[in-house]
Amino acid sequence: MESVSLRRRGCVPAEEGSAAGPLVLRVNGAFHDVKDEDPQMSLAEYLRSVLKHCGTKVMCHEGGCGCCVVVVEYDDPMKPGERIIKSINSCLFPIGSLLSLKNHCVITIEALGSVRKGLHPIQQRLADYNGTQCGYCSPGFVMQMYGLLKNNATPSSQEVEDNFDGNVCRCTGYRPILDAMKSFANDADKRQKGSFIDIEDLRTCPKTKQLCKRNYLNKIGPCTDQTKNTASLLFSKNNISWYQPTVLTELYLLLQEHSEEAVKLVHGDTAKGVYKKDGPYQVFIDVKGIADLYTVTMQPSGLKVFSNVSLNSLIGHLKQYSDQSPSYTVIASHLLKIANGPVRNAGGWAGNLMMKWKHHEFVSDVFVVFEAAGAKVTVSDVTDMNTYTLMEFLGVNMQGKLLLCVEIPKLAEGESMNTYKIMPRNQNAHTYVSAGFRVKTRVSNNKQLVESVSMVYTGIAEDFIHATATEKYLQGKDLTSNDTLQGALAVLDKEVIPDDSDPLLASAAYRKILAQGLFYKFYLSLLSDKTISPRNRSARYSLERPVSSGKQTYSTKPEEYPLTQPIPKLSARLQTSGEAQFINDLLPLPNELFAAFVLSTEGNATLSSIDGTAAMTMPGAVAVLKAEDIPGSNTFMPPPFAVEEIFSSGPLLYAGQPIALCIADSQKHALQMVEAVKVTYQDQKPPIVTLDEAIKKKSFHPSPGPGLLTGDPATAISESPCKIEGEIRMGEQYHFYMETQICRCVSTEDGLEVQASSQWLTLVQQAVADAVGIQVKNINVTAKRLGGAYGGKATRANLVACAAAVAATALRRPVRCIMDLSTNMKAVGKRHGYIVRYKVGFNKDGTLNGVIITYYCNNGSSPNDNEVGENLVFSDNAYRCKNWQLIPVALKTNRAPHTWCRAPGSKPNIFVIETILEHVAKFLSLDPIAVKQRNLYARGDQTPMGFVLPYCSIRDLYSSQLTKVDVAGRMQAIKKFNADNLWKKKGLAVVPLKYSLSWSWTCYLCTVSVFASDGSVIVSHGGIESGQGLNTKVAQVCAYMLGISVDYVSIKPTTTNSSPNSGATGGSISSELNCMGVQRCCKILRERMKPVRDKLPPGTSWKDLVAACFKAKVNLTVQDWVWPDPQPKDAPQYNSYGVTVAEAEVDILTGENQITQVDILFDCGESLNPDIDIGQVEGAFIMGMGYWLMEEMVYDPKTGAVLNAGTWDYKPPFSKSIPVSFNIELLKNAPNPMGVLRSKASGEPPQCMSCATLFAVKRAIEAAREDIGQNTYFPLSGPATVEVIQTNCLVDYRNFKI
Ligand SMILES: Cc1cc2nc3c(=O)[nH]c(=O)nc-3n(C[C@H](O)[C@H](O)[C@H](O)COP(=O)(O)OP(=O)(O)OC[C@H]3O[C@@H](n4cnc5c(N)ncnc54)[C@H](O)[C@@H]3O)c2cc1C
Ligand code: FES
Ligand code: FES
Repeated sequence: MESVSLRRRGCVPAEEGSAAGPLVLRVNGAFHDVKDEDPQMSLAEYLRSVLKHCGTKVMCHEGGCGCCVVVVEYDDPMKPGERIIKSINSCLFPIGSLLSLKNHCVITIEALGSVRKGLHPIQQRLADYNGTQCGYCSPGFVMQMYGLLKNNATPSSQEVEDNFDGNVCRCTGYRPILDAMKSFANDADKRQKGSFIDIEDLRTCPKTKQLCKRNYLNKIGPCTDQTKNTASLLFSKNNISWYQPTVLTELYLLLQEHSEEAVKLVHGDTAKGVYKKDGPYQVFIDVKGIADLYTVTMQPSGLKVFSNVSLNSLIGHLKQYSDQSPSYTVIASHLLKIANGPVRNAGGWAGNLMMKWKHHEFVSDVFVVFEAAGAKVTVSDVTDMNTYTLMEFLGVNMQGKLLLCVEIPKLAEGESMNTYKIMPRNQNAHTYVSAGFRVKTRVSNNKQLVESVSMVYTGIAEDFIHATATEKYLQGKDLTSNDTLQGALAVLDKEVIPDDSDPLLASAAYRKILAQGLFYKFYLSLLSDKTISPRNRSARYSLERPVSSGKQTYSTKPEEYPLTQPIPKLSARLQTSGEAQFINDLLPLPNELFAAFVLSTEGNATLSSIDGTAAMTMPGAVAVLKAEDIPGSNTFMPPPFAVEEIFSSGPLLYAGQPIALCIADSQKHALQMVEAVKVTYQDQKPPIVTLDEAIKKKSFHPSPGPGLLTGDPATAISESPCKIEGEIRMGEQYHFYMETQICRCVSTEDGLEVQASSQWLTLVQQAVADAVGIQVKNINVTAKRLGGAYGGKATRANLVACAAAVAATALRRPVRCIMDLSTNMKAVGKRHGYIVRYKVGFNKDGTLNGVIITYYCNNGSSPNDNEVGENLVFSDNAYRCKNWQLIPVALKTNRAPHTWCRAPGSKPNIFVIETILEHVAKFLSLDPIAVKQRNLYARGDQTPMGFVLPYCSIRDLYSSQLTKVDVAGRMQAIKKFNADNLWKKKGLAVVPLKYSLSWSWTCYLCTVSVFASDGSVIVSHGGIESGQGLNTKVAQVCAYMLGISVDYVSIKPTTTNSSPNSGATGGSISSELNCMGVQRCCKILRERMKPVRDKLPPGTSWKDLVAACFKAKVNLTVQDWVWPDPQPKDAPQYNSYGVTVAEAEVDILTGENQITQVDILFDCGESLNPDIDIGQVEGAFIMGMGYWLMEEMVYDPKTGAVLNAGTWDYKPPFSKSIPVSFNIELLKNAPNPMGVLRSKASGEPPQCMSCATLFAVKRAIEAAREDIGQNTYFPLSGPATVEVIQTNCLVDYRNFKI
């Protein structure tokens, strides 16, 4: 370590506005001069905007989604000759920071492979294993795997699964992605490897088919570059300086020199993913070039770690020295729960502690574990160096100072330590409560006496760190006594007073019981097995998640291939190579502008003024557009829909409502303008935020319909021997499409060319025409692919499209309007939330007699995308009952208008009747599985809507699935487990499904054209490929019908020019109907070709046949308009059936849970493509599971504004959220006589069975409640977050015993 010197060394000043030396980035082997760039620019922005490498995607810009992951390589500052290779989030990493990494090289998805040049094995496998749907997340997954394999060419399956704690995929349900990645694992079995034998096989040259000599994993060798940036001042521009010192003295001098200015030390620069508004800073000092700060030494007293050591590197060192102190393993495991791999690769412990120093409320895990371990930090500046405890450090004046190092002591003789972190999701989530405990005990006279104890918490309150009173109480006490335990808990109960002021925090009651429960876990871990009662032992361990696995079972008909053939998606290879283009990947056109919305912060008020003066002084500013700038109608929902204003003309119906549009030369500048727009409000009134308020105040939208009355439910209930009433709630769900709402509009000679990420192009076209006041014929809307949609881009995509169109028309320049995640979450509605009340009458055996249900559905501020009352056909699910009354009520609240989300209406309605059956069973003390079975429909039964079920197979499926997955045996095992364990409980639930598919509500135009020259075929249809595999199925049907290979067929982007008047893609049926249209086109084509074919010799090739037809003047283009007639009495076209069995384990002390096994049997008819349909089943199920178990929208109770508009606080499932064992069977030999080519839909129905996970968890909670004599029914609403689960377990610390 260099000693501190006052002498200024090595700081070579550069002229203002210039760089001091050659500032060169190396990306994929090529050098790029960045001296004119802003060093703060994120690497993602540089790659995408400057280099136009758009394979790297962006979404959250906060390190939370992983789609921007790239790999960096650079010289190891501590080991000459060695390279460090790691994945990082390019959305957070500033380009200036790369210059401090010696011989750096950035590797992006483009470097790995391409469809034309050949894919990298990772890209290839992800495609082959069906690991993509929309493909937006795919490059991030590939790069994260690449980073792993570059460091460890033969990882274990466990290491592979652990690697993906930072990547979101909303479509696939993760299973196929994990399978693809685990096929590289050294312990992958034959099935996982699929047709690949081992990794060498993957190195077969795509051209020669010979074994490739080149090692793919080392394809990009180390770079010996010319980036010798020795000067300290790298950039100096616009009053911002960026320094890159290489020795400590320089750093100290810089800190001294700039002690009066706002200085930011840049290490990983990941903190800005959490605290986005910190700053502004004038001086940036990148510390990564200082080699000394990477030092790690094992001292007699402990591990000394300097401040440039990243979190992941620290974990590595702690593991390396784990033999020196058991606490090192504990700390390493805890640090692994911080953020995700790429954040831990870039971010360091020092930055984390500084976040805590600056924001005392920050729930820092580093702080908790270091303080629990008794670590000390050293703070230094040019003149001084002092060591502090972590508690003291919080009060140190850090202005001009460096957090130099930390020393983590070893545990002393007799000391034990453990730490805990309870979070909303088991990966990549901040903590609710983290705790670290260290105790020293001594054994005397069979007693275990406390000599010293440290109890550290975060997540309770800003200033509550040590449970000092409890620590004091425990001094000298005997741990083997229940009195000590109870005494300590009583003191803890008094001193833990959680702060309850922030609606984003978990409830105070939950955090309090967590504080007690975690202490109890630790307490028991100190005692020997024989001291603890066997039933209490389960308190000690946390749920362990084994490596996940899954089985997919289906049948195919090889004689019909490519129909029924499980082929990868047509665009899978483009997606995994990053070449699949989404709208934001399109290169900007000359003069293109970018738009961002200004949103209301008031939920019920009138707009008083919008002042864009300051915004117009911002860099790149072009315009601020308001309602008065709209040339046509100010609504993005064309008639007959109700008006929804593009920009508010005055009335503000919800916080988050768009009120103006800022236009600039880049998205960044447009967003900066938004911050500068000043808005004033008047007539502020209290908004109606909650559903309860809306019900109380009778704030309803116009009646959504009469509902349904069949039989006489009131009498049936009153005359029933048993009756129940209940209420159940369901929250909202953000769609979480990885490609946020986006549209580009270009003014053309005669109108507008609109590239929209929309599920409903005709509606976009009409809305845009109305907004800009031109005819529909002058507008063409195109959608090539969507980066996810799930219903959220059916009508809501109109908003960005109209805004972009208004701007493009006003400014006569191309305009791209993309919502950043926060704007998207605030401005756009979610899945509808519900309160549902029911009354039910039934017999003593559980047979239903009468059901009355009132659905209060929150539509938000507009009735447009109503679903309540529209989907009553799902209310009965699979259950027979003669008397029903179903009453829909559409609630009007001051929230963004809610919209359809995958399985709208069906999912809530099915959950309600499932809840009712569970309630009936509990009332009767019967097994819900049997009660459900008793009520199932039989073939020929009639539904409440009056439809007869001629092909109903649910009874057979139900009983066969119970047998197949051994429900009886497993229930026995669960019973025993629950009897043996007080603090871990298991549960199993079964949910059957009848899902009605209706075809007549939508329409599509399909066109098939064959080229005379080579016989290749193009298809255009009215559906939108959004990841569901629509294009692939259409191509398969086309190829099958024409008797050609799929390679002949190309599906063109959907446009309103080629498929005018087409309806929305949704409701699971678009794949079928477009397949039907193409099937009919091909049939006509074949008929037209037949006379020519009949004259040709048998065996004539397709190409020759086509040529002959052309010569014979056969029209080789066919069109078909698909708009099926309704079935008699509007009956469904057909029903899909399924059964799901889910098993869960719950930690009763914390609410943490694990879905251990899910078995889905689903009737998909004769699947057109089992790979795609299984992908739909899995993806739908996991999205549903997220809704039931973790995804929760949080609103400001005062304004109704969305509070959790980002990945920090909104938690969709991650790869370790999925069932540990996830098995799907598509019902075999099940042709659907009413379907297209005997198939059935798969996009939404399986999601309706995902509530089985919630019920399995509920069973476990019931087991816990039984232990304390609480054996009555209780409702479990969704989402059943860890907090909700634990709270329902009714845990009382007074029951904590040894
Ligand atoms: C998606 C995401 C999830 C996260 N999840 C968690 C979590 O679960 N638990 C948790 O505890 N944290 C979490 N974090 C926080 C994360 O651990 C920190 O962002 C990271 O450790 C900061 O390190 P850094 O090197 O990037 O700091 P930087 O961002 O570079 O710096 C942060 C601050 O520290 C200052 N600083 C940096 N180094 C020094 C030094 N040596 N001396 C003085 N000042 C210095 C900087 O000036 C700056 O103000 C998460 C972050 C993200 C982005
Ligand atoms: S865009 Fe970088 S992590 Fe989401
Ligand atoms: S395929 Fe992963 S987000 Fe769509």
